[in-house]
Amino acid sequence: MKPSIMELRSILFVIFIFFSDAVSAIKCLAYFSETADLPCHFINPQNISLDELVVFWQDQHNRVLYELYKGKEKPENVHPMYKGRTSLDQDNWTLRLHNVQIKDRGSYQCYVHRQGPNGLVSIHQKIDNYLLVLANFSQPEISLISNRTENSDNINFTCASTKGYPEPKKMSFVLKTENSTNEYDALMNIFQDNITELYNVSGSLSLPVSPEANVSIFCVLQPTLTQTWLRSQPYNIDAKSRNTRQLFTDHGILITTLPVLFIVCVTVVSLIVKKRKKKQPGPSHECEAIEMEGEENEQAKQRVENRVPERSDETQCVDNISKTASGDKSATHF
Ligand SMILES: *[C@@H]1O[C@H](CO)[C@@H](O)[C@H](O)[C@H]1NC(C)=O
Ligand SMILES: *[C@@H]1O[C@H](CO)[C@@H](O)[C@H](O)[C@H]1NC(C)=O
Ligand SMILES: *[C@@H]1O[C@H](CO)[C@@H](O)[C@H](O)[C@H]1NC(C)=O
Ligand SMILES: *[C@@H]1O[C@H](CO)[C@@H](O)[C@H](O)[C@H]1NC(C)=O
Ligand SMILES: *[C@@H]1O[C@H](CO)[C@@H](O)[C@H](O)[C@H]1NC(C)=O
Ligand SMILES: *[C@@H]1O[C@H](CO)[C@@H](O)[C@H](O)[C@H]1NC(C)=O
Ligand SMILES: *[C@@H]1O[C@H](CO)[C@@H](O)[C@H](O)[C@H]1NC(C)=O
Ligand SMILES: *[C@@H]1O[C@H](CO)[C@@H](O)[C@H](O)[C@H]1NC(C)=O
Ligand SMILES: *[C@@H]1O[C@H](CO)[C@@H](O)[C@H](O)[C@H]1NC(C)=O
Repeated sequence: MKPSIMELRSILFVIFIFFSDAVSAIKCLAYFSETADLPCHFINPQNISLDELVVFWQDQHNRVLYELYKGKEKPENVHPMYKGRTSLDQDNWTLRLHNVQIKDRGSYQCYVHRQGPNGLVSIHQKIDNYLLVLANFSQPEISLISNRTENSDNINFTCASTKGYPEPKKMSFVLKTENSTNEYDALMNIFQDNITELYNVSGSLSLPVSPEANVSIFCVLQPTLTQTWLRSQPYNIDAKSRNTRQLFTDHGILITTLPVLFIVCVTVVSLIVKKRKKKQPGPSHECEAIEMEGEENEQAKQRVENRVPERSDETQCVDNISKTASGDKSATHF
């Protein structure tokens, strides 16, 4: 019960943060490089002629976006960063800001002044018109960094998505087999373009990919303000077309025959020794037999030792494969 209440609380908190000033501020949402509408909410009840009005929009740093001076556009006061990017819809007094940049996010005010006998008189001021700018991240792309190695069942993947805003919340990899679905969080590397302020994100992960099953792996990016998760195309690895399979076919003969050869050697040697023991009974020969046995053992040992480098390599390989196959399945970041 407790965690769910906590969760609910945090969700409510987030909702509160996003919408708390919605009462006082009108939130405008625009996508990067598209057009934002900045309304003025001026109704002109007295049907004042445009010739008597001075209307302008300012950003939170008091930079002028647009000015309509007595019915005519007045570009002199417009800040360079807004030059040529605005147009006024006079029907509903909405300023359109084109080619929206991340830098454009923030609050805007619209001022309406009337030319009176004693100068300009403010007749309308709309503040807290908040512009929220978003950029959709590209569809994440999953790619392979490294195949399975001889001593690891892990496959390293990377996932990348570009040109989004704001910073994403989470990136993860989903590994699906016929019977299971596992999600692994990836550490995100976030790069911000210092001109556009857009973010690129990438994440890498070493995933334990079972050799026996067909697997499908994709990565998922969770943006911060939108609910939709972005999913990459799946990367499929067939049980049959695995890279390590090569290892088994290439060295398969050696792997399977070496222990057999070893066992055969040992049994042959011990059989020979036993035969000789039986053929030569008696105390005097007992000694010899033991000596012979020792000699034979020495030879067998030598034979075995000659194989040691080759054999240890192969068994180590087998050991490692079985170890990683049954061992630590947890994904590791890198
Ligand atoms: C407002 O004034 C214009 C002329 O300045 C006139 O054509 C128009 O009908 C007036 N509208 C209203 C609602 O009074
Ligand atoms: C203002 O009018 C234009 C069409 O003339 C429309 O596209 C726009 O959405 C309107 N804006 C608001 C804030 O009503
Ligand atoms: C961004 O994504 C949202 C859905 O997540 C969509 O409604 C919107 O049209 C997209 N905007 C652009 C510019 O692609
Ligand atoms: C992984 O193995 C496949 C086929 O075995 C090969 O085509 C691919 O280039 C390899 N990739 C890497 C990153 O080693
Ligand atoms: C982000 O990705 C785009 C497209 O791949 C690239 O052109 C740009 O240089 C990258 N920006 C950063 C800051 O890494
Ligand atoms: C952006 O960052 C790069 C290196 O991080 C730097 O060389 C470049 O001067 C920066 N550009 C601007 C406009 O700040
Ligand atoms: C993997 O998929 C292929 C078809 O793409 C199927 O023939 C095969 O039986 C599957 N193997 C396993 C282990 O599920
Ligand atoms: C999935 O489950 C079925 C039935 O429980 C089983 O026959 C099959 O071998 C399992 N597949 C894998 C890849 O574990
Ligand atoms: C794969 O990632 C793991 C974990 O970070 C790392 O230890 C290993 O060297 C990587 N393998 C390759 C072949 O890059």
